[in-house]
Amino acid sequence: MSTQQRADPVPRRPRLDVGIVPVVVAVGLLATVTAALFSGAAAPPPEGLTDAGPIVRWTLPLVRVLHDVSASLTLGALLFGGMIVPATRGRGKLDDPRVAHAFRVATAAGFVWALAGVVGVVFGFADAAGLSLADPAFVSAFMSSVWSIETFRVGLISAAAGFVVASGSALARSRWAAVGLGAVALFGILVLGLAGHAGGSADHETAVNALGAHLLSAGVWVGGLLALIVLRPTFGTSLGVVVRRYSTLALWCWVTLGISGVMAATTRLGTWQDLTTAYGVLILVKVAAFLLLGVAGWWHRRSTIAALTSSTAGVSTAGASRAGVSPSAKVLNGIRSRPFVRLAIGETLLMGLTFGVATALARSAPPVPEITPNPSIALALTGFPAPPAPTAMSWLTAWRVEWLFLATGLVAIGLYVYGVIRLRRRGDSWPVSRTINWVLGWLLFIWVTNGVLSIYGRVAFSWHMILHMTELMIIPIFLVLGAPVTLALRAIPARTDGTIGWREIVLRVVHSKLFVIAGNPIFAGGLFFFSLIVFYWTGLFEIALRTHTGHLLMTTHFILVGYLFAWVLIGIDPGPKRWRPALRLIVLLATIAFHAFFGVSIISGTTVLAPGFFDTIALPWVPDPLADQRTGGSVAWAIGELPALVLALVVAAQWYKSDSREADRSDRRADRDGDAELTAYNERLANLAAHDHQANH
Ligand code: HEM
Repeated sequence: MSTQQRADPVPRRPRLDVGIVPVVVAVGLLATVTAALFSGAAAPPPEGLTDAGPIVRWTLPLVRVLHDVSASLTLGALLFGGMIVPATRGRGKLDDPRVAHAFRVATAAGFVWALAGVVGVVFGFADAAGLSLADPAFVSAFMSSVWSIETFRVGLISAAAGFVVASGSALARSRWAAVGLGAVALFGILVLGLAGHAGGSADHETAVNALGAHLLSAGVWVGGLLALIVLRPTFGTSLGVVVRRYSTLALWCWVTLGISGVMAATTRLGTWQDLTTAYGVLILVKVAAFLLLGVAGWWHRRSTIAALTSSTAGVSTAGASRAGVSPSAKVLNGIRSRPFVRLAIGETLLMGLTFGVATALARSAPPVPEITPNPSIALALTGFPAPPAPTAMSWLTAWRVEWLFLATGLVAIGLYVYGVIRLRRRGDSWPVSRTINWVLGWLLFIWVTNGVLSIYGRVAFSWHMILHMTELMIIPIFLVLGAPVTLALRAIPARTDGTIGWREIVLRVVHSKLFVIAGNPIFAGGLFFFSLIVFYWTGLFEIALRTHTGHLLMTTHFILVGYLFAWVLIGIDPGPKRWRPALRLIVLLATIAFHAFFGVSIISGTTVLAPGFFDTIALPWVPDPLADQRTGGSVAWAIGELPALVLALVVAAQWYKSDSREADRSDRRADRDGDAELTAYNERLANLAAHDHQANH
């Protein structure tokens, strides 16, 4: 890390600008009270339902605002401490005051998050049960059933994440700890996407995915800006670098927040007319705030950020020059950053207001009723109506957009192509075959998770097995041959100011001990095979069929396990030492033998797997679930063989290539040193012969 890149020292006890936080919370509280009065979000429940009382009804939205602001600030502070704020000159990795200040903020905000989370669950339970806190039955009812209700379960998980992050931040000092705790904070916010209106809505999956992405982007965006303002006194002259890095992140968040917000709104609003309802009006208020914040972001990019890094020439330092003194760097810094800071403070207040409106929105009855009256069995079981009997055309025409997987595929392709363009721009080449493999792999992923296989794989075993085998054995081969890690390490510039960027994170993962274990072909093969057994012969399969989270985790697991297996066999990317091709082929053949055994055990099975699901859904075009299961077994066996053959051919091709490379290398060496190796070998043979000759005579 070059000296000039190291930032100037931090004032010994900088006064962090924490004053902004209570102001943002106050604006949020005011907004939530106004919005709740407008939409009736804190009104007593309808006739016939028991009321937990006004204290509970009003405390809930107020505590939620505090929860959302503190959770966001915790995440923002860790993000800044680990990945955004340059290191302090002359300070080591573990005693950098900038990182220490970020941890102090994360500790305080994290504990508020955890406490507000627990209070939110207690009051939420009282409200849902219609029990006041003073009710003697409250504690036993709470203790016996709070965990079984998803909304409160995720609330407790999120509060626990807040507590872990706060405790960790109180002890940690390294940037890697900030990144690790930041990941826990991200999870703690993301899991909340499973609660609220999203949980019950007809288009449950879209609602959950949208709210998850919405909360995450709002958390990073608002938390980042709050952390920037609070920690600014520690930045010194590196404010420009910090703001530019945050600004890139803020743009991603703004786009994600807008798209996910609109998607969340579509699951709760049936018609344009619904925008005139109280719920609809609150959404319009948020849209207005969103656009205003977009304009502020644009103005930052157009003017205030440029001013931060511009030369001092334009800065009017009238007072200082009148005094005949040259304004110090600190004063100039203050002057240059003023327009930025003023606008940023305005933004955080508007964000606080939007948080307030959002909290009331989440407690207001949406026009589209959450629970579909008299749902069909398929809708009750899977969240989707039963699909008609599949036809040949279904392979092309059956689509049901799974936004999260669609977005994942498009972002993966977009980032990869952007990386290739960066290499090309600086004159470096990148094999086209790799780009084709990567793009094909993700296009196949998008089809598999949004098309016929995703629709029928949710209700019939045979179709599920085609989906499973494609995700486990076919898509990963394409992705692995795309060599994404190599591209990332070549396209993403290394950080030189002590911060941790995506390149540093990729390098850390690839060289981690965990990767050494995971990169062992026996481990990868074992994981490949045993996860099949565990998944189908425990309740996991049924959970994946019935729940959105289960379906998400199943798909992620199949792709990752398949990717790891394909990578240890034919991977191009850097990682732990690769086994010799012959050994890899043996592992492949052994795994495929096990895989065939898996297929046969399904074919020969006499009981239906996930009987509670398949016997209940009873699709007219699957008259015999066991027969369909046996078809699934043959599919597993059949589809498993082709990719295995491709893997074997690629291993053999790589073997041949590495051998011929080795041969070329030793030929070149022989040319260079007159084949010293052969000479030495012949000498050794001659000596041996001479020795033997002597010994025998
Ligand atoms: C295009 C603009 C936006 C739209 C259409 C939108 C829409 C929504 C919808 C429909 C919900 C779910 C409410 C429910 O559970 O019923 C929501 C929740 C939320 N929104 Fe937005 N939003 C937008 C912008 C924003 C902005 C700019 C912020 C913050 C700066 C924000 C923060 C939140 C938060 C924190 C929640 C969760 C509230 C809770 O569950 O307590 N949204 N939004």
